[in-house]
Amino acid sequence: MLNILKTIALCVAICFCKTWALYAAGVTASHAVVATASTEASSVGLEILQKGGNAVDAAVAVGFALGVVEPQSSGLGGGGFALIFHQQDKQVVALDFRERAPRMASANMYQQNTQEAALLSQIGPLSVAVPGQVAGLLAMHERYGKLPLKEVIAPAIKLAQDGFLVSGTLARAFLDKQKILSLYPSTVAVFKKTGQWPQASDRLKQPDLANTLKLIQTQGKASFYQGVIARLLVPFLLTQGGIFSASDLEQYQIKWRVPAKTTYRGHTVYTMPLPSSAGVLLPQLLALAETQNIQNIPYHQVDFLHFMIESMKRVYAVRARYLGDPAFVSVPVDSLLSLDYIKKIQQSIDLKKATLALVPEMVSSLPQDPVKPVKEPDHTTHVSIVDKDGNAVSLTSTINGLFGSGLVADKLGFFLNNEMDDFVADPKRPNLYGLMGGDQNAVAPKKTPLSSMSPTLVFNSKKELRYVLGSPGGSTIITTVFFALLHLIDYQMDVGTAVLLPRIHHQTYPDEVRVEPYALDAETEKRLTEMGHHLVKHAPWGNAQLIEVFKDGKKSAASDPRGDGVALGY
Ligand code: DON
Repeated sequence: MLNILKTIALCVAICFCKTWALYAAGVTASHAVVATASTEASSVGLEILQKGGNAVDAAVAVGFALGVVEPQSSGLGGGGFALIFHQQDKQVVALDFRERAPRMASANMYQQNTQEAALLSQIGPLSVAVPGQVAGLLAMHERYGKLPLKEVIAPAIKLAQDGFLVSGTLARAFLDKQKILSLYPSTVAVFKKTGQWPQASDRLKQPDLANTLKLIQTQGKASFYQGVIARLLVPFLLTQGGIFSASDLEQYQIKWRVPAKTTYRGHTVYTMPLPSSAGVLLPQLLALAETQNIQNIPYHQVDFLHFMIESMKRVYAVRARYLGDPAFVSVPVDSLLSLDYIKKIQQSIDLKKATLALVPEMVSSLPQDPVKPVKEPDHTTHVSIVDKDGNAVSLTSTINGLFGSGLVADKLGFFLNNEMDDFVADPKRPNLYGLMGGDQNAVAPKKTPLSSMSPTLVFNSKKELRYVLGSPGGSTIITTVFFALLHLIDYQMDVGTAVLLPRIHHQTYPDEVRVEPYALDAETEKRLTEMGHHLVKHAPWGNAQLIEVFKDGKKSAASDPRGDGVALGY
């Protein structure tokens, strides 16, 4: 009998093999934990932590390593955000090392009426914004790192030089994007050397990238923004038809920011402020959830789901209408987060049926019938780390779309981002993630495009660190983090369960509820449909990395079973 049960369990495990295998790859450890989207990168993080590096050393090492092993998701040609908790000064700081628009960029640069023009913000040289990844990782290290930079970059160099085994996910990504990647000789020269794109289990060596990393290792930030790397990158982009100049790189600056801060059921939640929309939308969603008596209702109770779907619709409408780079446009953050405003959103929700997505003051400035977004698989990458002293880093970095612009920087070996598409390239069409918007997020020289990336840290009422989390997933990042917080705080789930449970998402445009497999039972689907919701089944999204810190100092970490990652600790 036992054998039969074991066989059944094994069959189920095989059917859901990714889920099971990686669910089991969660870890509980006494000292330090690291969760990333890649086994190699998590191993790099663990190695640095065990060597005596702190959470920042590990995050920087992992950040560089992820650019090598997940070239489709992040890298030297991209940018990102980090939230850092430093035990010694008991402070949470936010680092913005996102890409900025080149000085020659302009509001209508993508607004021509041809099919090809519509893609200019997504593919090729004009989609590239000035990268911040190198400046960001080095700034974090300079301010908080303990180990020498040489040691922290070394593992990434080794992975680029000696190669690593290509994952199924990476091989599939190359296959999916081969048409676009084939347009660029510099990309073909690096990744199709053998006549075919990398296949699963191939050993992928990246000698150009290894050399670029060595230059950064020995010559620091200047090599990228002024020195050898800049001198290769700028002319290359110009010959491709790009517009960014040597001074764009020279003038690139990271920004240390005050994190967005809110409270949720006795916890303090820190997340990325503008130019990430997380800084407004996550506190709004939490405040709306806090009006509901979640503790006394079953998980995924239909009225609560209805309320949260209507809330998601409304906060994404706020995003589209009000949010943009605060250095360029005025955003009424305080008023959007005020109790009055939350009440206004709450009162606009009909508890019995789905209603218009727009918040009352949003008049009809947005098109009602947006074009469907280009279907993109998930990419970008998140890292959660807590070290033995309780320092923590939550870092999300990206080149935006899968392989970014599709362009590999010639002789330098890294993909250039297509972050320009996170602006409202054209108010008449949605971006890669289906997001719409207006003037607030229009392109302007040196402006930062609006983001959804939500690196998040949570503390309890005694100001002790409790959770570290974040995810990729474009527009869905904020709701992925939001539901994970509900799982952890309201339902007291362990990190493995909190990250595993299927997701739902609504972002105003298109007017549909995205539903992951198994997220809703048939009765709930029926009730929601009767209430007027358009439910659309969707392949799984996101790749969240979660950490929980316990009273006794132990830490649990889990890597999203939807991805290839793993959580490690010691
Ligand atoms: O900053 C943003 O919101 C996007 N560039 C993030 C892209 C992303 O998460 C892609 N993953 N699916």
